[in-house]
Amino acid sequence: MQSNKLNAAVTAVGMYVPEKVLDNKYFESIIETNDEWIRTRTGISERRILENGATSDLAAGAIKDLLSSKNLSPEEIDVIIVATVTPDMFFPSTAALVQEKIGASNAWGFDLSAACSGFLFALQTGASLIESGKFKKVIVVGADKMSAIVDYTDRNTCILFGDAASAVLLEPTEDKNYGLIDSILRVDGNGKESLYMKGGGSLNPASEETIKNKMHYIYQDGKAVFKVAVKGMADVSVEMMDKHGLKGEDVAYLVPHQANLRIIDATASRMGVTKDKVMININKYGNTTAATIPLCLTEYYREGKVKKGDKLILAAFGAGYTWGSCYLVWSMD
Ligand code: UT7
Repeated sequence: MQSNKLNAAVTAVGMYVPEKVLDNKYFESIIETNDEWIRTRTGISERRILENGATSDLAAGAIKDLLSSKNLSPEEIDVIIVATVTPDMFFPSTAALVQEKIGASNAWGFDLSAACSGFLFALQTGASLIESGKFKKVIVVGADKMSAIVDYTDRNTCILFGDAASAVLLEPTEDKNYGLIDSILRVDGNGKESLYMKGGGSLNPASEETIKNKMHYIYQDGKAVFKVAVKGMADVSVEMMDKHGLKGEDVAYLVPHQANLRIIDATASRMGVTKDKVMININKYGNTTAATIPLCLTEYYREGKVKKGDKLILAAFGAGYTWGSCYLVWSMD
């Protein structure tokens, strides 16, 4: 008997990147680095920085772009899920602030914290709400103002990150060939000290001491994260491909979290996906944490490079550790 389970399909996309560009030359003027090192070690040429405003402004900008692209009114939104590690404040949630900024008067929503895997965790969460049959229009937005937690005197991290937001709309489809087909998601707290912001939470509340010790900034052991990121993203993505009988050539695009071009290349190669089928925009935006994957989807779709029926493997790795792979079949013309 045919099950009448609903799939969650991506039916609209939107993005917001701030105007201000910081190129690699700028960093040569503030720290001991150079354009060549940054480009060859990371793949980044420039990143965007939000000068005035907060993560909710980035997220609201992306959702407004999404709504206008589909001629939707904000009252139609049922749920807003904001994946972020840079909420405007601890509470209320960024989702509440976004709801007000866009006027989504019939929505509920919440923030989700899974760092660079945030979009994938939120996508699965949003899809589950759609699959339940109870909610018809769920917005999943990845939004991070990384410049708020970056130490611009630390050359190990400050060149990596940028600010951005990007959103997708999930709606139900009865056609099981489209939408989010499957996800494999993981969390492992053993990675907690390789990538974190130590201060400001209930463990180390803000104090003169935490400020003096720079505990309100990102700390990353880049080398340690690099190794596990390649293995983590590739392992779950290969598991996903095997589970669904997909070979490298069946995948229209690998849509990887944009942390480092070398990590992306190594992951694609382990998956047997050729370079021409890997979405890349790290050169323009750097690592925008929860925003990287939807930002790639939005740009590639708008450039006419993603077609209905395309099989996409989304893959991410981030703080926690968190990581995962999602199998999404594109449903927009
Ligand atoms: O998005 C969440 C997950 N995060 C990631 O996936 C990031 C994973 N890690 C990475 O992408 C890379 O490890 C980094 C890009 C962060 C660093 O690249 P690396 O090739 O692993 O460099 P490294 O940390 O091993 O440093 C190599 C050298 C060091 O100098 P010494 O000790 O060999 O003399 C660093 O001090 O490069 C130096 N270095 C820099 N030099 C110029 C570090 N940062 C810079 C810099 N400019 N900005």
